[in-house]
Amino acid sequence: MTTPSALSQALAALDPPAGLAAAVERLTGRYHGIGDMAEVFRDPLAIPAYLHARMPATAAAVAAVLQQLPPLGPQSLLDLGSGCGAVLWAAAERWPGLTTVTAIERSAAFAAAGKALLADGPFPTTRWIQGDLRRMPEVAPHDLVTASYALNELDPSDLDGVLTTAWNHAGKALLLIEPGMPRGFAVIERARTLLPTLGGHLAAPCPGAGPCPKAAVGDFCRFAVRLARSRTHRQAKGTRGFEDEPYSWILVTRTPVENRRRVVTPPEVRGDGVHFQVCTTDGLTEMLVRRRDDAWTQAKKLEWGDAF
Ligand SMILES: C[S@@+](CC[C@H](N)C(=O)[O-])C[C@H]1O[C@@H](n2cnc3c(N)ncnc32)[C@H](O)[C@@H]1O
Repeated sequence: MTTPSALSQALAALDPPAGLAAAVERLTGRYHGIGDMAEVFRDPLAIPAYLHARMPATAAAVAAVLQQLPPLGPQSLLDLGSGCGAVLWAAAERWPGLTTVTAIERSAAFAAAGKALLADGPFPTTRWIQGDLRRMPEVAPHDLVTASYALNELDPSDLDGVLTTAWNHAGKALLLIEPGMPRGFAVIERARTLLPTLGGHLAAPCPGAGPCPKAAVGDFCRFAVRLARSRTHRQAKGTRGFEDEPYSWILVTRTPVENRRRVVTPPEVRGDGVHFQVCTTDGLTEMLVRRRDDAWTQAKKLEWGDAF
């Protein structure tokens, strides 16, 4: 799974502005904790930098997650903190028949850029609402509520309120995707603790409720997707042709779904077989599947994040 191809094409059609490389450096510097995230919105080249250097990766992470979901069959989608609409492009690939799509974004400039990009793409009738998730705009519940790479930008004191409001708007499910870093996982970890107390069921990727066994050992749960960098991105950021985007995620549903144990490290083929760690209802288990084992045919094809 990688960046949705329709999005890659739409981005390739945009003319990169002069100064993009420096703007990408400023943007990624902020992602690595240098400077203030609020500064992003004061940077005149923030939007092209986001479009070319970050959105392909966030959309690829969302697309990877959507492929791993249990059947949900949503008719309507409400995306929170939409930015330039990464979730919508990934959702269009997964559920082209969605009938109602709503996007809430605080920044008028990001929302305008997202709307312009989607005008010739999927879901051109998306309702864009400029608003702050801490004071949720008037909007009806939708089958699926999503938030991708957004809630980690909240002050931690606002997180429970926004999670509760997001859950209250979710007719069937709430899907959260965050950077696969401690600050992103902190959002996922809080959601997996709070939402079951509000009636939610942890559906994926966790095999069950209860404390996260990764967190219990001071680690955090993440997966990764590899994506090709566009020509513009390579010119702005260096010559490497691909990047690996780490992400953490959680799906919480209104009704229980069958949970499966999950591969939570990259499988490694060694002389004696394939080694990987799985998360189970009993905690983390180190697995070794040998070539002579019945499970070998399945295990040799396993990827990080697969249900097993
Ligand atoms: C890193 S971007 C992610 C955008 C998009 N969801 C994606 O995956 O590419 C985070 C977005 O969340 C928005 N955001 C952060 N806090 C918000 C809030 N309190 N209300 C509404 N939007 C918010 C920001 O304006 C920004 O566009």
